[in-house]
Amino acid sequence: MQSSSARARWVIGNWKMNGSLASNAALLEVLTAAPRPRPGCSIGVCVPSPYLNQAQRLLGATHVVLGAQDVSEHESGAFTGQVSAAMLREFGGRLVLVGHSERRQHNAETSEVVAAKARTAFAHGLTPVICVGETLLDRESGAAEATVSAQLAPCASLVRDAGTSLVFAYEPVWAIGTGKTATPGEAQAMHAFIREEIASFSPNARDTSILYGGSVKSSNAQALFSQVDIDGGLIGGASLVAADFLAIAAAL
Ligand code: 13P
Repeated sequence: MQSSSARARWVIGNWKMNGSLASNAALLEVLTAAPRPRPGCSIGVCVPSPYLNQAQRLLGATHVVLGAQDVSEHESGAFTGQVSAAMLREFGGRLVLVGHSERRQHNAETSEVVAAKARTAFAHGLTPVICVGETLLDRESGAAEATVSAQLAPCASLVRDAGTSLVFAYEPVWAIGTGKTATPGEAQAMHAFIREEIASFSPNARDTSILYGGSVKSSNAQALFSQVDIDGGLIGGASLVAADFLAIAAAL
């Protein structure tokens, strides 16, 4: 979908805890062989950390941007199991997801920790993809905007410092892996709200990319990506199937 906006447009795959050396190689071979997206549009893959080395090797200098799914807020030291921003950079990482709802839920990440992770990632030259989104309970009780606003608030100083070097992703928890997608209108309304929130932190941030995630498929990507405040997608399940991921990217 052609857009008049100057904002960077992205389709980013979040592989979550999926993959194997063999399946990754097959998937990345198809993605790297496909034509690069039109100017202003990019595709990326956020792989599990053990596969960064393989992905770095296979992606090389291709147009497919490499990312990770989490990063420590700490620089280095006694943080068993954590992965630092410097390590991600050494393995060719350029993007990193922070605050995915699965980490907020299963790893008790607070919005303050998420903001600290994004700050560390930014300081190391990574682009943090800051994920926010409400639960079904929040939405049904009329608290969707308040929830998202509270998730964004600790990022205010980072937004002021980083301007458009960040990426946000709106992923309503009730739409992740459920087959339920926010309607293009529902997604657009929340994206417009997020844009106003981050612009209230810093007017320059109005041109920050905001991606939609949650059951994006080739059949609904175009309708979502053509909304004025939706700058692309963060794709879970469909990013594991090369043809599906490329079809979604074609809707950028
Ligand atoms: P699905 O596309 O599988 O719903 O996952 C979305 C997501 O969580 C991407 O980060």
